[in-house]
Amino acid sequence: MTERTCLSIVLAAGEGTRMKSAKPKVLHEVAGLSMLGHVLRAVSDAGGTAAAVVVGPGREDVAAEARRLVPDASVHVQSERLGTAHAVLHAEEVLARGFDDVIVAFGDTPLVTADTFAKLRAGLAEGAAVVALGFEAADPFGYGRLVVEGGALLAIVEEREASEEQRAITLCNGGLMALSGAYAVEILKWIGNANAKGEYYLTDAVAIARNMGLRAAFVTAAEEDVHGVNDRVQLAAAETIMQVRLRDAAMRAGVTMAAPETVFLAFDTAFGRDVVLEPHIVVGTGVTVEDEVTIRAYSHLAGCHIAKAATVGPFARIRPKSRIGEGVHIGNFVEVNRTSMGAKAEANHLAYLGDATVGAGTNIGAGTITCNFDGADKNPTVIGRDVFVGSNSTLVAPLTIGDEVLVAAGSTITQDVADGALAFGRPRQAALPGRGAEKIRSNKVRRAERKAKEAAGKA
Ligand code: UD1
Ligand code: CA
Repeated sequence: MTERTCLSIVLAAGEGTRMKSAKPKVLHEVAGLSMLGHVLRAVSDAGGTAAAVVVGPGREDVAAEARRLVPDASVHVQSERLGTAHAVLHAEEVLARGFDDVIVAFGDTPLVTADTFAKLRAGLAEGAAVVALGFEAADPFGYGRLVVEGGALLAIVEEREASEEQRAITLCNGGLMALSGAYAVEILKWIGNANAKGEYYLTDAVAIARNMGLRAAFVTAAEEDVHGVNDRVQLAAAETIMQVRLRDAAMRAGVTMAAPETVFLAFDTAFGRDVVLEPHIVVGTGVTVEDEVTIRAYSHLAGCHIAKAATVGPFARIRPKSRIGEGVHIGNFVEVNRTSMGAKAEANHLAYLGDATVGAGTNIGAGTITCNFDGADKNPTVIGRDVFVGSNSTLVAPLTIGDEVLVAAGSTITQDVADGALAFGRPRQAALPGRGAEKIRSNKVRRAERKAKEAAGKA
């Protein structure tokens, strides 16, 4: 079956008015990837060899997203939205290249899985010319119904055309369909628009195939797999389901989560084994986490790599292009941005490290700030190995600090520091004998006088 060629045609010409958005519907994201992206991933995971995307007029953004994910995807503009079959036929020139299998998918059903597409393809491999995807709908209203007799699929009837009797059918059409490449164009061209909506219904492919003496079949999937997104409430519902899938997959692969429902992952998050995720963690796209890492509560990570046995958080923020080395400790209220931390380096409290390279075994004290932005440019800070940066230090970039340097607490460091040096970047301390106590006592007297005056005023 893997040798069979497969063209997937993704319909994405809908306007998505109910999203109330400047952005086309299929570009809205679920777990950090556009809905279109999820569908394209699923079809390619199911062995799709070519992809065609049908977009609405002027939708360069949708075309660009399709090409970002599948560089050789063909994009076809459907200027008039005359129905799902009409949309599919826009890919006719690609269909003409000849494929064994043709899958039609909708760009707004992001939860569809590669497994489901594989099942549809298996139906074609077994000799059907059309394979529909059925599901048992909790509320069938609005869906096409699968008319089945003795296990054979006779037709799909849209809600508006359905008889009273057919409306009672709960086996509904998920929308996605597989067609034999040998007959697809011929079947599609027979489809007319003499129906309640005046649209060319892809679903008519079933009855037409049968009239041509071909076989139609159906496979089934869970309702959530064909969940379509038309508004932001349905988008949130899709996100919820996707998050459950991502967390379950992570836990099954060896990640511990005490409160999985509070952990949010991205479609591409990658974990090693024995990773521990405490509650309330948000992981953006592009994050890879090695074995034995602990991410503590209320941390936010995106676009970063966390090496083996590192600890991050609680309340840490690791931003894109950061690499956290093996055994590193990042503590509370530490922000790390485009920074790499060498093995066993530590930044345990309240720090900002931006555009920095921190050597192995270096300790960054509480309150350390890299001043990486001068108002115009971002500048690098390079800190060597086994450095000790005292608390509340301000490191003004561009700056290079050598190995085994000790930076005195409270320093402002503006010039490079050589290996092994003790760097002071602060005025020397002055202490005037007796003056402190004198000041404290006189303050007390003045405070008492003021209070007495206020009391007299009120009386
Ligand atoms: C379709 C099915 C219905 C099924 C339901 C599942 C048909 C005729 N009906 O109905 O049996 O139960 O999906 O959700 O296929 N599109 C285009 N160009 C068009 C028309 C549609 O690109 O000219 C795209 C839409 O953007 C959408 C998808 O195709 O992503 C489905 O179209 P839609 O109008 O939503 O079909 P339904 O009426 O929901
Ligand atoms: Ca729909």
